[in-house]
Amino acid sequence: MSFMFSKENLLKIEELKKRYPNPHALSLPCLWMAQYQEGFISLDAIDAISQIIHMPSMEIYGVATFYTMFRLEPSEKLIVDVCKTLSCKLCGSDEILEHLEKNDTIKLRHVECLGSCSTAPVMQINDVYYENLTIAKVDAILKELK
Ligand code: FES
Repeated sequence: MSFMFSKENLLKIEELKKRYPNPHALSLPCLWMAQYQEGFISLDAIDAISQIIHMPSMEIYGVATFYTMFRLEPSEKLIVDVCKTLSCKLCGSDEILEHLEKNDTIKLRHVECLGSCSTAPVMQINDVYYENLTIAKVDAILKELK
């Protein structure tokens, strides 16, 4: 197993264990920590989490693959999540998605509701939301991030 949590993260996990009577509840915080630490969640990280919280690796993998915010492979490209759900769709996300499909410098993902429907259309890059988007605004954001 090549993944090891940092000492800092191991201390955080020990603190979190005190809050949760069922250690399986730590699966989400541990997945977040692994992703922040490595940039993605490797199978080795899932095995490490499994050993820490005594939950089968396959179940942790199931949690990791259920949520779109977890990345299971490294990406050298900027990962851009664009909401394709109703409010965003009504406010122009289809045009934004079509525009971004032509951009081969990013990894574009069509995602379900990001929970910010009142500021549609919305996209997320890393942990940052970009809202009330237009194609011009998207281009300006991507230009600034490169
Ligand atoms: S529909 Fe896009 S954020 Fe909710």
